[in-house]
Amino acid sequence: MSSSKFTSLLYLLSFVLLFKAAFGYGYLHHICSSTEKFTTNDPFDTNLRDLAGNLSNATPANGFALDSRGQSPYQVYGLALCLVNVPKEDCWGCVSNAGQDILNRCPNTKGATIWYVKCLFKYRNENFFGQLDLNGVGSCSPNNVSESIISFNENRNNLWSQLANETLGSQNLYAVGSSELNGSSKLYGFTQCTKDISRADCGVCLDSSFRYISENCNGKQGGSISTGSCSIRYEMYEFLNN
Ligand SMILES: *[C@@H]1O[C@H](CO)[C@@H](O)[C@H](O)[C@H]1NC(C)=O
Ligand SMILES: *[C@@H]1O[C@H](CO)[C@@H](O)[C@H](O)[C@H]1NC(C)=O
Ligand SMILES: *[C@@H]1O[C@H](CO)[C@@H](O)[C@H](O)[C@H]1NC(C)=O
Ligand SMILES: *[C@@H]1O[C@H](CO)[C@@H](O)[C@H](O)[C@H]1NC(C)=O
Repeated sequence: MSSSKFTSLLYLLSFVLLFKAAFGYGYLHHICSSTEKFTTNDPFDTNLRDLAGNLSNATPANGFALDSRGQSPYQVYGLALCLVNVPKEDCWGCVSNAGQDILNRCPNTKGATIWYVKCLFKYRNENFFGQLDLNGVGSCSPNNVSESIISFNENRNNLWSQLANETLGSQNLYAVGSSELNGSSKLYGFTQCTKDISRADCGVCLDSSFRYISENCNGKQGGSISTGSCSIRYEMYEFLNN
């Protein structure tokens, strides 16, 4: 991983130390990424609303969708991702909600990204498909691990390597897994990339995210990060079934 990519991740991630409970779709964070504005009801506005409706309908099938509407200079590009194991109804609801919510949080803005526990939604007035995006949000569990931090980290890093390996080898660019910790406890995790980026960039995104969690959530029982291109989480309970 190049240090500049890591620096930009450090810079741009907004890190929340208090773990946020997942109310509803679990709003986490948003970024209004463009300084350019459109006028209410101009063709960009219409295209954006049309895109948001289409993405929420298209995403549940594969948990991921890309689409574009309109012609330059009013063309809009959009991406939606549902996190692994999110049921289809929740995926539809989360993306649909995100598409509305972002219009209120970033009024008349030509580019924005919004993250929830269950999904992410991003749009721009230019083609960003396939571009690595390390902007994001992270959080840590407030609970400390009770075993030795060194051995916990060793187990966690082994789980991450295994999940990264499976993600890069999988068709859907995600993996879910668990590993035994010392004693009777278990660690659960997943890693996931958006399907528009290359496998190499997926690897870069996962590495940056692992490194970021390692530094910020050292000794904590859980941690998660979601960027514009990948998402990872680990916990000492089976969070994917909740
Ligand atoms: C999806 O896009 C098509 C073609 O642009 C449009 O006719 C349709 O109304 C859109 N659907 C939704 C739910 O926005
Ligand atoms: C975790 O450990 C830190 C530092 O040792 C301490 O300040 C904090 O209160 C602990 N958190 C919990 C939830 O026990
Ligand atoms: C836990 O397991 C690791 C190896 O996985 C070992 O090195 C360590 O000594 C074990 N015990 C404790 C209390 O951490
Ligand atoms: C995953 O691990 C296997 C076995 O260790 C290895 O052969 C393979 O190259 C790895 N795949 C990736 C994408 O790193």
